[in-house]
Amino acid sequence: MILEGTAYGRPRPTYDPLITEVGPGTPCGEYLRRYWHPVLASRNVTGRPRKIRLLGEDLIVFRDGDGRPGVLYPHCMHRGSSLFYGKVEADGIRCCYHGWKFDVEGHCLEQPCEPSGGLNRSWARQPWYPVHDHYGMVWAYMGPPEKMPSLPRFEHMEPLDDGEFYYVLDNSVQSHADHAGPEVVPYNWTAINENCLDPFHVQVLHSTFSDVHFLPEMAIMPTVEWEEIDVGVIYTSRRKLETGEELQKTLTWVAPNISVNPGPESGKGRKALSIFVPVDDTHTRAFVVRRAPAGFKDIFQGMGLESVKPWTTMTDEEHQDMPNDYEAQSTQGPGGIQLHSQQHLVRSDLGIALQRRVLKREIQKVAAGQDPMNISFDETSAPISTPSGVVKTPVGVGA
Ligand code: FES
Ligand SMILES: [Fe+2]
Repeated sequence: MILEGTAYGRPRPTYDPLITEVGPGTPCGEYLRRYWHPVLASRNVTGRPRKIRLLGEDLIVFRDGDGRPGVLYPHCMHRGSSLFYGKVEADGIRCCYHGWKFDVEGHCLEQPCEPSGGLNRSWARQPWYPVHDHYGMVWAYMGPPEKMPSLPRFEHMEPLDDGEFYYVLDNSVQSHADHAGPEVVPYNWTAINENCLDPFHVQVLHSTFSDVHFLPEMAIMPTVEWEEIDVGVIYTSRRKLETGEELQKTLTWVAPNISVNPGPESGKGRKALSIFVPVDDTHTRAFVVRRAPAGFKDIFQGMGLESVKPWTTMTDEEHQDMPNDYEAQSTQGPGGIQLHSQQHLVRSDLGIALQRRVLKREIQKVAAGQDPMNISFDETSAPISTPSGVVKTPVGVGA
């Protein structure tokens, strides 16, 4: 008997660093540093300093007493103590060791142990990054100062109607309240970024294999078309319903890391932004933000999740019985890094192939000194408009 296809002697797998590595000085890291990225929901940036990690850099985020958010390099420029232990005041943060105080742009406001509070302190500057509150989140720009673009804007996100507010999740929750994984997921950003252009996993993982995570109709196998557009890649999935209607869903991925998800309901206010922010090469934080009417409390209300066991308390057997995005995406490679050399993309992965192609092209553009797509240096330019949406039509009349 000839044994074929055994695991013996297989080649050592490798990953593609071009789209995987996000640290300072890497091609992808420099590309991603040309965009603003959310750091935390605005409500979670307070007078209590927090440690965060973004694009492989450790930082401290806080909000001063006058309400300005700040992101500073953690080690005090004096002798290195962490500003995590600093105290926030009206106009800045004061280091715990010798009391140097810095504002949100790193200017040194006081050196209390120096004669007259450090009269010559104007040379002192704590490394900082530009920060803004925008769409209910605090965003930071970590790229070259002369290339700072305007904040990203989306047509469906503004302006807010009377009473509306931005409902923000900054804890990597995509579908299932606290049943979907930890706040920062331990895997590379590409895994979750690619997932948004993978509509077939919705039919399997989210509808028929595990629990029903979204709508029951998602259990119908769709037909799908993908297309590259000016802002990224879209897919349109079509499902034939028992009623004779066709359910058509269009989702837009906006380079480099935003999915405009139409959500289960169609309509302007329900479209969400999902933003997949690399923490470092092996960790990612996902944000979800949508416009919500006054009084809106929880997107998971009415989904029957009250009886679902919290993810953190599930046993291995329960994870096996009820896998979700976390179980699938965290295991695509050791340490959360996808091993591209041992993957086999097929027709249903066309969206992923397109996304990888766009990212590699844009990374190479930045490496060649050009500006990447989807940035604007003009505050007054039109917000990004996307075709994301859900429609139900009689068969063959799809919009
Ligand atoms: S180490 Fe921060 S003030 Fe001295
Ligand atoms: Fe998913």
